[in-house]
Amino acid sequence: MIALPQSSPRPGSAILGLGAYEPSRVISNDQMCQWIDSSDEWIRQRTGIVERRWAEPHETILAMAASAAQRALDHAGLTGDQLDGVIVATVTHLEQTPALAVRLAGALGCGPCPAWDISAACAGFCYGLAQADALVRSGVLGHVLVVAGDRLSDMTDLTDRSTAFLFADGAGAAVVGPSPSPRIGPVVWGSDPAQGPTIGQTLDWAEAVSQGRPAHLRMDGQPVFRWATTAMADATRRIMADSGLTPDQLDLFVPHQANNRITDSMLRHLRLPESVQVARSIQRLGNTSASSIPLAIDQLYRAGQVKEGATCLMVGFGAGLVYAGQVALLPAPATPARDQNQSPAAPERPAAPATEPPTLPHQQ
Ligand code: ACO
Repeated sequence: MIALPQSSPRPGSAILGLGAYEPSRVISNDQMCQWIDSSDEWIRQRTGIVERRWAEPHETILAMAASAAQRALDHAGLTGDQLDGVIVATVTHLEQTPALAVRLAGALGCGPCPAWDISAACAGFCYGLAQADALVRSGVLGHVLVVAGDRLSDMTDLTDRSTAFLFADGAGAAVVGPSPSPRIGPVVWGSDPAQGPTIGQTLDWAEAVSQGRPAHLRMDGQPVFRWATTAMADATRRIMADSGLTPDQLDLFVPHQANNRITDSMLRHLRLPESVQVARSIQRLGNTSASSIPLAIDQLYRAGQVKEGATCLMVGFGAGLVYAGQVALLPAPATPARDQNQSPAAPERPAAPATEPPTLPHQQ
């Protein structure tokens, strides 16, 4: 029997750098109410959103992804040519092929590394992180860039009062590389096809082209809301259990920024200690799909709320319905508080954390 050679597994992988890009155009709730019959008060009460950011024409998904990726590379102290793989999670790259990841690899000067897109809606960042972690730990790839980028404004129907106020644009990125111990925990992920009809497109691309009309996102908000509050609290419990962490060992909780009331409901189910910092970036950024988790982590960095080795539980969910989440131990901040959309300064890399952070178990 022939035995084929295998790559040599590594002891672990880690997030070495994070970056994000927030588009420049700010849309307040009052501006939103020019287009839909709603009010600032209703939107704040029902979702927590105060304003959202939409990309200008020059802020393409590629441009936003490249900015976020460059910041993550700077944070990791790496350059594009040191990457061995590029994964992009997006649902608004409007071309079926080629993959956006290949263009991004070109823009970053990566050389001929593997590059591919994944479609996992608002769970896309956690799906990409799970793939990168597995590929690095198995020894298949060295340093892998995971980017989540979407322009949901391109797919938003400004006359649809059930969705228009929610969606927004942005990009976030992480560089994953080898680590002497596991710093990305086991992924908990899945899909629920029975919930498929709750979120979708008004037209498929072929219909949109033949009818000369744009395809918009449509959503049946209430069933998604009900599903998210129970299924995502359960997924969060499983993520914590599989990572071997107790709630008091958690520093940051970063759920997908879909609705502050969903986050509140999850917190009621989970009873996390007050010491856990909970991401609320939806207030300023709206629902930015897959990029909402790295954008939220970026905000926490800039607010000085992330220390070296912080235990961060992420959980994303969205159209499919699909979900994914894991715990990661975060890298030290690049600077004490960095400005968004500014390249962080060269990363300070402490020789060793004062106290050894918890070690996360491998995914078998
Ligand atoms: N402004 C004012 N009133 C409104 C608006 C609006 N924009 N939209 C609906 N209403 C009214 C309705 O007509 C209804 O009035 P009625 O009671 O007189 O009949 C009332 O407000 C309540 O409407 P609901 O649809 O029940 O509002 P709900 O509280 O469910 O909030 C929302 C809607 C915010 C969409 C919520 O259902 C939600 O957040 N769902 C989950 C979204 C989500 O998590 N999506 C997943 C990811 S998205 C992705 O994958 C891209």
